[in-house]
Amino acid sequence: MSGEQKGGLEDVVVSTSGICFIDGNEGRLVYRGYDVNELVERSSFEEVVFLLWHGDLPSRNALAAHTRALTSTANRRLPPKLIDILRALPRRTAPMDVLRTGVSVLAAFDPDGGDNSRDATLRKSIRLTAQLPTLVAAWERVRRGRPPVTPTPRLGLAGNFLYMLSGKTPTALAVKTFDVGLILHADHEFNASTFAARVTAATMSDVHSAITSAIGALRGPLHGGANEQVMRMVEQIRTPERAEDWIRKALADKARVMGFGHRVYRVEDPRARHLRRLAGELGRQVGDTGAVEILDTVARVVSADKHLHPNVDLYSGAAYASMGIPTDQFTPIFAISRVAGWTAHVMEQHGNNRLIRPRADYTGPTRLSYVPADRR
Ligand SMILES: CC(C)(COP(=O)(O)OP(=O)(O)OC[C@H]1O[C@@H](n2cnc3c(N)ncnc32)[C@H](O)[C@@H]1OP(=O)(O)O)[C@@H](O)C(=O)NCCC(=O)NCCS
Repeated sequence: MSGEQKGGLEDVVVSTSGICFIDGNEGRLVYRGYDVNELVERSSFEEVVFLLWHGDLPSRNALAAHTRALTSTANRRLPPKLIDILRALPRRTAPMDVLRTGVSVLAAFDPDGGDNSRDATLRKSIRLTAQLPTLVAAWERVRRGRPPVTPTPRLGLAGNFLYMLSGKTPTALAVKTFDVGLILHADHEFNASTFAARVTAATMSDVHSAITSAIGALRGPLHGGANEQVMRMVEQIRTPERAEDWIRKALADKARVMGFGHRVYRVEDPRARHLRRLAGELGRQVGDTGAVEILDTVARVVSADKHLHPNVDLYSGAAYASMGIPTDQFTPIFAISRVAGWTAHVMEQHGNNRLIRPRADYTGPTRLSYVPADRR
């Protein structure tokens, strides 16, 4: 690398943005000026989506119209041919692969396909945000050999998703916890998947292409895939009594522990605290606090030994597991929320665009002469 660069674009400012602010030293996360802690207490995911897309909180009427659009069956429903495609996929297909493929298929059926105007991108963003939960839930049903559940306009995004997974009306605590999880994951500045979305959008490509790029980036275990890996760790540890020895051995073996550390936060990720509390409450409701106890012990040892703090992915999976959600659906659930931020960033990028095209610090030779194959 040249000069002072640390690799991975660390600390590199790529452009201005008015969507999300992170203070990594204070542990603050702010959407459009509003502290996420206050939004968690007082807002809803639907309202946060409006905030991210339009730049400020909606009036009562604007919120009602926006919520109607996000919850309407017309916007939530999947094209029947997409359900046919889901049925044709091998049942072992990873849910993130299904999500990426599904978003590509949704592009083909979208009535605004090919129109990249701000109005059309907003309409497509409404549909994508409404359709993603249906797609994730439909795959869960199809892979279990069950028929997908028709979305219900009676329930908001969180409640309807849980309803479509099981076919049963979820508890109020599950809906509240899921909604808070959605708020906490909705945006996070220029993280890897959002940056991938912006790079794609900056070629003046369409929002479905940008979201497909983002889903690919989110999948990796250093990003959204970490929440699944945390649960795999909990499954390996098995009981709270085994946690301390297990994590000490992992650290001695120089393992990278999922759910810890962050490129931007130097203190605890403000999202982790809420998710820990909610995972604990849900665990108590279903009579199983083992996962949270295991994670608390892991967090105590990792913080003391490595000075690494929990991030958003440490406790989210424990909360979802208490709702009966399978581990490989945790990252798709992250996407159900982050699509709000991704689409906000696509609209911001399109609104003031310049192609994103950095340079490489080339380290190879530059003047080799071609040698024919029989002389190499
Ligand atoms: C998020 C993450 C990728 C940020 O990484 P980064 O800014 O590139 O930092 P680096 O990977 O260069 O790590 C810096 C140092 O901290 C250590 N470190 C960082 N995160 C660690 C973790 N989770 N477990 C163990 N060590 C970790 C690295 O080994 C490295 O140590 P070294 O300098 O002795 O080699 C990293 O913290 C990580 O891999 N965390 C686990 C995955 C995760 O939870 N991702 C979700 C993020 S929200």
